[in-house]
Amino acid sequence: MPSFFASTAKGLVEALEIELKNLGFEKTEKVAGGVFFETNWEGCYRANLQSRLATRILKPILDFNAYQGDELYYNLMKHDFTKYIHPNQTIKVEASLTDCSIRDQRFLAMRTKDAIVDQFREKFDVRPDVNTFNPDLKIYIRAHRDQYSVAIDTSGESLFMRGYRKEAGDAPMKENLAAGLLMLAEWDQKSPVVDPTCGSGTILIEAAMMAMKIAPGSSRRQFGFERLIGFQQEAWDRVLDEAASQEIAELPFKFYGYDIDRPVLRMAKENAKRAGVDHVVEFNFESVATLTPPVEKGLLVANPPYGARLGDEENLRDVYRDIGFTLKHRFKGWDAWILSGNKDLILDMKLKSTRKHFVFNGPIECRFLKYSMF
Ligand SMILES: C[S@@+](CC[C@H](N)C(=O)[O-])C[C@H]1O[C@@H](n2cnc3c(N)ncnc32)[C@H](O)[C@@H]1O
Repeated sequence: MPSFFASTAKGLVEALEIELKNLGFEKTEKVAGGVFFETNWEGCYRANLQSRLATRILKPILDFNAYQGDELYYNLMKHDFTKYIHPNQTIKVEASLTDCSIRDQRFLAMRTKDAIVDQFREKFDVRPDVNTFNPDLKIYIRAHRDQYSVAIDTSGESLFMRGYRKEAGDAPMKENLAAGLLMLAEWDQKSPVVDPTCGSGTILIEAAMMAMKIAPGSSRRQFGFERLIGFQQEAWDRVLDEAASQEIAELPFKFYGYDIDRPVLRMAKENAKRAGVDHVVEFNFESVATLTPPVEKGLLVANPPYGARLGDEENLRDVYRDIGFTLKHRFKGWDAWILSGNKDLILDMKLKSTRKHFVFNGPIECRFLKYSMF
């Protein structure tokens, strides 16, 4: 059984595998939804702290076949869950199944919880409580065609919750998606990035953190693995020290964000400050209709509104026409990548894309398109 699994958003699995390899995890295997990788607990701590694309890191612990509730229960009883937490700590079971003899997801979650708490009761005469909001141990049980896999969570809160974004506009993107877009765009991490519709600044803050080699998890309060029995404080200190020693304080270039929403720009500035990158990111009030390049050369990455969540489609057609016009006439020599969940609006840009990725922004399938402005 592979030692760890990194999950991510649909569309980012290949980029996540490359990231894990760059972080030094050599044995990897891509599957739908994420990447298995081999490492020890110290490596798991490092993946949690350093992966910009993972949503969470799980430790697979058990695989079995079961066709009815008792079989499920006895298979779970074969694994010692008392080695992960003390009986006075709390648990939560996340269950999902497709195409199984056991049909009820709630029954699956309940039987799994029973098997776990019964082990504690037998051994300690006390059982862990269930806490659905902030459990000490989260157990994932997934089943497909009567094949069950069980994993424990090592992350706690999802890893895209870096800790710097306290405020955002109406349609912010998750931080790991922003980092993933920069990887898909093959940004070299050595040149300016411009976001003409920056909202709360996620893409630029992630870009600045990448360039300054600030670990994405460095401002988080806690990770799930810190609450597990056997947590190795010395190994975690080593991982934190290694990450801190890689940080670069100053950069010879900057990041530029623009928006027509002043309150959202103020939020972006506060977010950048909390992330420790405000000295390298400039946010300014400017419409994409009148935008000119702030520097001679760089990469433009944009997530304009696309109707599903922000604004109304008719009004947005003008925004896309403006983006197309501005790119064509003022950003000659630049590469631009646009993320949009609305393919009709993309056509309004009147530009021909040269590359395309499909990614999911939450539940919305989006195109991430490259335009080379010759
Ligand atoms: C989908 S949101 C961007 C979200 C951002 N990626 C984030 O994570 O917070 C789109 C943004 O485009 C801005 N916008 C709309 N029309 C604009 C225009 N003509 N010029 C510049 N920005 C515009 C909106 O104010 C909004 O903040």
